[in-house]
Amino acid sequence: MNRREAIKGYFGLLAGSPLLRAQQDLPNSTGLVPGLEELVNVFEFEPICRLRLPRQNYDFIAGGVDNEWSLRHNREAFDRIMFRPRMLVDTSNLDLSLTLFGDKISCPILVAPTAGHGLATPEGELATARAAAAVETIQILSTTSSQPLEKVAAATKFPKWFQLYPGPDLEGTWERVQRAKDSGFKTIVVTVDAGYSSHRERLLRNRVRAQVPSGASTQQARRRREEGEAEAPTRASVYGLNTTLVHKLDWNFFDELKKRAGLPVLIKGILTGEDAELAVKHGADGVVVSNHGARYLEYAPATIEVLPEIVSAVNKKIPVLIDSGFRRGTDVLKALALGATAVCVGRPPLWGLGAFGEAGAKRVLELLRTELALAMGLAGKANLSKIDRSLLRM
Ligand code: FNR
Repeated sequence: MNRREAIKGYFGLLAGSPLLRAQQDLPNSTGLVPGLEELVNVFEFEPICRLRLPRQNYDFIAGGVDNEWSLRHNREAFDRIMFRPRMLVDTSNLDLSLTLFGDKISCPILVAPTAGHGLATPEGELATARAAAAVETIQILSTTSSQPLEKVAAATKFPKWFQLYPGPDLEGTWERVQRAKDSGFKTIVVTVDAGYSSHRERLLRNRVRAQVPSGASTQQARRRREEGEAEAPTRASVYGLNTTLVHKLDWNFFDELKKRAGLPVLIKGILTGEDAELAVKHGADGVVVSNHGARYLEYAPATIEVLPEIVSAVNKKIPVLIDSGFRRGTDVLKALALGATAVCVGRPPLWGLGAFGEAGAKRVLELLRTELALAMGLAGKANLSKIDRSLLRM
């Protein structure tokens, strides 16, 4: 057996394994890993990503919390919504573009902030930045990027946003905001739903302790580590919990952030109308309806279910973005019809990166954009302003 046959046999064996099939069938049954051009939807990138990455990297990307009920429910919830398509409407000039905080993007699909793209491909977030710029959309760079934020900012000229994890200390947080501003990030997205390390059993089984790879190190954090300074104890530690964000993450923190940022600030992780109303009251420039891809509170609702409540509370005063479970153009169309301004995708670009690097991430975004265009065309909606609730049968 020569080397080529051995490799072919190895991939054949992996592709045929029941474990892999349980997750997602490869799109053909020859046992060969299909090429990028052969994949017809974003789901098909996941098993290839799984084949190509070390187990714990794949599990870090894939995992949800506890029983992964919210993870499954994020997908199931879309199946309860159908369309009421309109006919004999001219959709020959489809336009999916929109302007968000002054920047024009090609479609209402953004790259959600996700940690450590270096786990998926060596160039990490630099590859993602180029992929997002190629489809003319926004990359929201995670605080826990595996590449320095300055390098990612400089990777392309296309506008980018910065996701802020506030913590663990305030000084380090303000330092991070300043670095993002100085590097030219246009908007801050502050994540507020991840105050404690959550119970992700895939990580525990793989003996991965840190839930996020380091990469967001600030001067302050380095100084504290060097001087062996302990973090301030909290009551949470009595219960064996590990706090990850600033100790008092409340609306006062947000007010201070808003004052210092001097950029639009969106709040990510909103799941109720009450919090959406408060976000407007405190001057948030937008909200991201998110259950963090089902990675923090188990039995958090699917975001598409709570979107109407949040859209109604916000009452068109600020943009409402949404993520968690979006895998199809039709999923995106459903959210737009319920009043979302745009949708963010987390795992799909990572599957693309893990399977085929930058080209894979780009293809994933292109596939989603094409699917959305097709769904709009078939539903009689030529552009985003034509999409409203009347398109849906709930
Ligand atoms: C995330 N998410 C996330 N969110 C955030 O604000 N900062 C972060 O660093 C991360 N890191 C991260 C890593 C990985 C591997 C995943 C899967 C998710 C959450 C992310 O922004 C988004 O809310 C979800 O990924 C959306 O769900 P889907 O699209 O992955 O189903």
